[in-house]
Amino acid sequence: MTKKKPSETKTGAAAPAAGASRKTLLLALIVGLAAGVMTAVFLLAVPNPSGTGQVSTTGKALIGGPFTLTDATGKRVTDKDFAGKPMLVYFGFTNCPDVCPAGLQVIAAALDRLGDKAKSVTPLFITVDPERDTPELLGKYVASFHSGIVGLSGSPEDIAAVTKAYRVYAKKAPDAERPGEYNVDHSSFMYLMNANGEFVKHFPHSVDAGQLAEEVAKVL
Ligand code: NI
Repeated sequence: MTKKKPSETKTGAAAPAAGASRKTLLLALIVGLAAGVMTAVFLLAVPNPSGTGQVSTTGKALIGGPFTLTDATGKRVTDKDFAGKPMLVYFGFTNCPDVCPAGLQVIAAALDRLGDKAKSVTPLFITVDPERDTPELLGKYVASFHSGIVGLSGSPEDIAAVTKAYRVYAKKAPDAERPGEYNVDHSSFMYLMNANGEFVKHFPHSVDAGQLAEEVAKVL
């Protein structure tokens, strides 16, 4: 900033001073916002202290959280019912033509590879189609892949809440091959949560069963 000549200071002191303070305020606001953004970015990318070289998310609230759903027997269950064991959480629906079955096959194969250790993890399959996937139907569906997988349904509100918590995209779309029917377009990740219910890692539905089993074993 250049120094003002004495004449300018005397003649127009009030107006320029107000302008300057507005600029200062604006600058302070921008600096403050930038600092806030930097802090947020830093919090999202704190290096994993375990030294694996991977970057892990630290915000507990980012993926996962409390839920209330209905199991195959019609019982209302919450995340607290599964506390104390890691969870492998996968979302989909029974009418899904190929992606969900492929993902469930991978989960089933990973559970088989884990052998006895599979009892120490809870694999959940949560529907994104609560209108068609009744708890009972969903239970039968997941049992056809592996007896260890827990199918969870609920009211549309229950499902909306849990998909939001896990950052799952799910949207109804007309089925081109079956007039009057619909599909549900949805993201298809498996979320590995530790025994405290905190997000550890996610995998695509196409993950290798051996790799998935290995990653699950790490948190047991
Ligand atoms: Ni699917």
